[in-house]
Formats: sequence, C-alpha cells, structure tokens
Amino acid sequence: MKRKTQRLSTQNACDVSIAASLLLQGKLVAIPTETVYGLAASALNEDAISAVFRAKKRPVNHPLILHIGDTKQLKGWVAEICVQAQALMKQYWPGPLTIIFKKSNDVSPLITGGRETIAIRMPDNPAIRELLTISGPVVAPSANLHKKLSPTSAQQVFNGLDGRIDAVLDGGPCNVGLESTIVDITQQPVRVLRAGPIYPEAISNTLQQKVVLPAQHNEAVAGNMPAHYQPQTKAKLLDTETLITHLGQPNSAKVAVLHYSEINLPQQNQALVLPLSRSEYGQRIYQALADADTLGCEQLWIEHPPEHWHEVNDRLRRACFDEPEQ
Ligand code: TXA
Ligand code: MG
Repeated sequence: MKRKTQRLSTQNACDVSIAASLLLQGKLVAIPTETVYGLAASALNEDAISAVFRAKKRPVNHPLILHIGDTKQLKGWVAEICVQAQALMKQYWPGPLTIIFKKSNDVSPLITGGRETIAIRMPDNPAIRELLTISGPVVAPSANLHKKLSPTSAQQVFNGLDGRIDAVLDGGPCNVGLESTIVDITQQPVRVLRAGPIYPEAISNTLQQKVVLPAQHNEAVAGNMPAHYQPQTKAKLLDTETLITHLGQPNSAKVAVLHYSEINLPQQNQALVLPLSRSEYGQRIYQALADADTLGCEQLWIEHPPEHWHEVNDRLRRACFDEPEQ
C-alpha cells in the first residue's frame, strides 16, 4: 500500500519526537546513523517488523540488527553478556560495531530469522540515541531496496523508498558511510562476519586473541549474498594497470571511471574521483556509486583499491558481481 513519506530533520527537536512517536505507533521511519541510513521499526511490534521486510522487498529469513540507545536496553534481549562482549562494548559503543549475542528466550524469530543469536548495535549519533531511549529498541536494516546501494543521505533513501515508508529523518550525510563490522562472540574463536569500519586488528587487540576473518570461514549468513550493494550501471573492478590499458584502447561504449590514483582519462570518459585515504574512501563510496548511475554511462570501471581495504573491497566485489542468468 502506498504511504505518504514525511520529511523530518534531526536539526529540529520536534521532528525527533515526531519520529519517536511514529515508531511507537508501529510506523516505518528511516533514521540516520553514522554508518548508513537504517529503516527503523519498533522491535516489539511484529506487524511493524513484517512491514520492514515488505517495504525493502527483503527475504524474511535475513535477520535484522537490533539498535539500542543505551546499554540498559539490552535487558530482555540477550541471554548473557560475556566478558568479551563487555570489552567490545566498552571500547566501541556507541559506534559502528554490531555484536552477535546469544538471544534471550522471548525474542521474535522475525528479528533473528529463527536463529539462537541476536545482532545488536548502538549507533553513534546523539540525536538517534535520544530517539531510541524514547521509542525503545528498533530493528534497522539499511534503508535501501533489497540488493541495491545502501543510502548515506536522506535523498538516497527517498530515491529508493519514497511512498513505501512513513518518514525519513534527515541527519545529513553519514560520516562513516559503510555498514558496521559484525563480530560473532558466541563461538570460539571469535569471527568477523562482515568487514566494516572497525578493523579486525583492532578487535583482536581489544580481546587479546586472534579473530577469524570472513575469508577464513564459510559461515553463510543470510544477507551476505554475492550480488549486493549494486548500482544500476554495469560495474567492473580492474587493477590499476589493467584499467590504464583499457583506457588506452578504442572503446565505443560510454564509460564512467571511479578511481583514486592520479590517472589521466581520455576526454570521452566520465571521472569519479575518490580520496586516497581508506576511511574517506569508505565514507564516499556509496554516494559515488549512486552518482555513477546519474551519468548516463553504459559501464562503470572501478580501480581496485588496495587489497587490505577489506571492508571496501567486500562491497565493491558484490557491487560488480555478475549474477548468472536463471
Ligand atoms: O551499519 C549497519 O549495521 C546498518 C545501520 C543501519 O545500522 N545496518 C545494516 O543492516 O547494515 P542490514 O540489515 O542491511 O545488515 C544486517 C546484516 C545482515 O547481513 C544479516 O545477515 C546480519 O546482519 N545479521 C543479523 N542478525 C544476525 C545474526 N543473528 N547472526 C548473524 N548475522 C546476522
Ligand atoms: Mg543492508
């Protein structure tokens, strides 16, 4: 059913209260977090949670992250808070780290996809934590249609979900720009399930133990699909040398080029230039992929970032994955 999507702003205290009361009424509100915009719904309202899956066209077995404003709100959701969880929470919350806990008995299977665990994080924006202390915990997947680019601005949320949700709370561009790192402490050794802004070396330092990386395990988490975060333009990842060779060859297709090294592009190509710093690159990558779609090009060639930028390479590999025809 078509909904009228209201535009609200974190600049306006009244709007933050309106967003909280909409959530309490079971409505769907896109909220800014430091990572990406999330599509929030009250975690205590199963109808609202089901509506999130419909609005995003998301398969129902993909579990959702619970977002809290205060550690007191963990009560009733987790079976235990082990020492490892305590150390990680102390170091990284509020912030872009999602921790997988053993769930408490009465958590809705709609949130966990039927698992025995629950993913939880505390976002870093003060206005959002205040909102969460009023609304109570919310589920909040990224506020995009299934498989599409994650939004890092209110406008990108409107581009994907206008008419499908009740409101968008505009908090300006996200300052981290990539989804949270997901770490599973329910099994030993501790595993990173999704690479993100908190690097595995930092987690390993905090816990004083080795952590297993996504490339070293084959935990198939629903939601970790090979084709994900995709722009509409057909994208291809090329190492710097191959990219330069391709650019030197005659090509009739209109091509946009996303690069961070200094490369002189032939005139017919459209350039999208990203910063050379890992975190700034991460902050701008989704916006750059969204911008690529506005250039009217048939292809997007992406310069392969350094191998150790795991969180960025993870997103780019999925953005470029060519799904075999069914
Ligand atoms: O930064 C973020 O985490 C953003 C913002 C909005 O907070 N949220 C986000 O949510 O990225 P979403 O739904 O797009 O991604 C959630 C990921 C999925 O890959 C899902 O499979 C995984 O978290 N997940 C959720 N619960 C899990 C669980 N119990 N065990 C393992 N993975 C889980
Ligand atoms: Mg997502």
